[in-house]
Amino acid sequence: MHTIRFYCVGRKICVLDYSGKTARKRRFLFHDRSYTAETLRYVVQIKRDKKNLLCIGHRGAMGHAPENTLASIRKALEFGVPCVEIDVYYVDSQLVVFHDSRLERTTNGTGYLLEQKFTDLRSLDAGNGEKIPTLKEVFEAIHLKAGVNIELKGPGTARPVAEFISEMRDVGWNDDLILISSFDHRELVQVRRLDPRIKLGAMMVGLPVDDAAFAASLGAYSVHLSLEFIDRKFVDDAHSRDLRVFVFTVNHPDDIKKMRELGVDGVFTNYPERVLKNGEGKGTPGWI
Ligand code: G3P
Ligand code: MG
Repeated sequence: MHTIRFYCVGRKICVLDYSGKTARKRRFLFHDRSYTAETLRYVVQIKRDKKNLLCIGHRGAMGHAPENTLASIRKALEFGVPCVEIDVYYVDSQLVVFHDSRLERTTNGTGYLLEQKFTDLRSLDAGNGEKIPTLKEVFEAIHLKAGVNIELKGPGTARPVAEFISEMRDVGWNDDLILISSFDHRELVQVRRLDPRIKLGAMMVGLPVDDAAFAASLGAYSVHLSLEFIDRKFVDDAHSRDLRVFVFTVNHPDDIKKMRELGVDGVFTNYPERVLKNGEGKGTPGWI
């Protein structure tokens, strides 16, 4: 009789292989042809279930405080997130942290963000008396305690953000703590040209025919896909190209569970405490 038992040591899958009277203990080898495809699928599933899901606080912790404000960032840090995501525009020669192209939804102002003077933007209430922060203020608030995903919004952000990151390196920020993402892949190409050391996240709402190839062709570190489109084929393709897979925006506990089962590497969430349950996912600040 031949019996195989699987067990986990930390995040490693091990096999206890009973063959006749002898029992052999060894690390599992994926290329071992003595195991069936079904067995391999089982092992892959165990590996996925054991993997830590990176918790990325979405616009800080926007389920608890006004999005993209210092209050939201502080809330995310209180939860112990290893990473936060913020949205950035270049307005009136300043990098400001803001999501929409217009002011109405999240402030008491009106009109297009890009048409405003910086001093006017700063006089607005961005929720609970919070101001629209600059990118520098957000970095100062985080103070190396979490990794940051700067999502480039609007045109012309690549150069000022790359220059900003260069300044931040002088005060201790390293490349494991910073990730630049965008739906605008032209901006990402520009970041790559300006500073090849910066990690890039290629964003997409949809499922391209050739899955994660677009992100690999950008030389990205990660691919960020929307929850409504992510599937196993995409995740496996991205992993085969050595890309991390981060999914937005994952708030419901059922979806968090599904993302773990799919084997994605991290989720953007408005409610970090739902992903960090039982202390899981707290780990070292920064990108994995
Ligand atoms: O970066 C993840 C997520 O923030 C992307 O969508 O619209 O919330 O910026 P959005
Ligand atoms: Mg965003």
